Amino acid sequence: MVYLNGKFLPLDEARVPVLDRGFIFGDGVYELIPVYSRVPFRLVEHLARLERSLGETGIRNPHSRTQWRDLLYRLIDEQPFEDQGVYLHVTRGVAKRDHAFPKNVEPTVFMMSNPLVNPPREQVEQGGIAVSAQDYRWLRCDIKSLSLIGNCMLRELAAQAGAAETILFRDGKLTEASASNVFVVKDGVIAAPPKSNLILPGITYDVVVELARANGLPIELREVSEAEVRAADEIWVTSSSKEVFPIVALDGRKVGDGRPGAVFQRMYALYQDFKQKIMRAGKREAVSA
Ligand SMILES: Cc1ncc(COP(=O)(O)O)c(C=O)c1O
Repeated sequence: MVYLNGKFLPLDEARVPVLDRGFIFGDGVYELIPVYSRVPFRLVEHLARLERSLGETGIRNPHSRTQWRDLLYRLIDEQPFEDQGVYLHVTRGVAKRDHAFPKNVEPTVFMMSNPLVNPPREQVEQGGIAVSAQDYRWLRCDIKSLSLIGNCMLRELAAQAGAAETILFRDGKLTEASASNVFVVKDGVIAAPPKSNLILPGITYDVVVELARANGLPIELREVSEAEVRAADEIWVTSSSKEVFPIVALDGRKVGDGRPGAVFQRMYALYQDFKQKIMRAGKREAVSA
C-alpha cells in the first residue's frame, strides 16, 4: 500500500498526471524516514526538515505535523514488515508548463514504505570503498530536493567503480557524499564540515554529533580540506539507510590500515545502542501540531 493525495492504494494503481511539476521540473522535495520495529526514528526532526525544504522552495505544506504523523503511522501499519524506510514526496502540483510558480495548485503528496535494509554486520566489519569527484551540484544542497540528477550522476561514478559512495570536494574542501554525509578521524579527533548551503543537514549526522559529544569523543565541526580527507585515519559516511558506515579505501588508496578504525567501532556501537533503546521503548513520539 502507498499513499497518494488522500488515498491509500496499491503501488501499481498510483498515478500522477504527466504535467506534475515533479515530473516536468523535479519541482518538489522529499524525506526518507527510517522506521525500526514500526517506530519512526527522529520523526520530529524529519518533519522539521521537510517543513524547512517546503518553506525554502515556497511549496505550500499541505499538512500539519499531526496530520503527517497520522498518515505516516497508517502507512507503517499497512506494511507486513517491521523495519521500514518511508519516502515522503511533495511536489508543487500539476499545472500548465511554465517555470514560474503556478497559483492555487494543490501540492502532490506521495508516500511509500520499503523494507529498510541497513548494511549487514559482515559488510560493516569489512567496510566499503569510495571514489571521489568534484561537487558540481547547485548551491542549495541544504534543501532535500527531488531534483537529484547531480547526485545520481555522481553516485553512478561509484557504481561503475564497484564502490559504495562518491565523496565530494568543492574548492578543495569536503562537502558530503552523493547520498550521505562524511566524517573523518585523525589522531582520535572526529571532524566533519559544518552545516551550510553546501550539504544536506543529515538527521544521522546530528545523531553522530550528539553521540560523540555525550560520550566524550572529541569532535570538530569545521571546514575539512581534501588533503585532510586523503590523509585521514578513518572516513565514515552517514545516512538514514547506511547508518554509520566505514570507508576503508578512497580512490584505490587505503584509509588508515584499510580496516574500519577504533573510533568507528565505538561510534557504531553507540549508534546501535541508541537505536536499540528506541526500539525497546517501542514508543511513538508525540509531535506538536
Ligand atoms: C546528499 C545527501 N547527504 C546526506 C544525506 C544523509 O541524510 P540523513 O542522515 O538525514 O539520511 C543524504 C540522505 O539521503 C543525502 O542524500
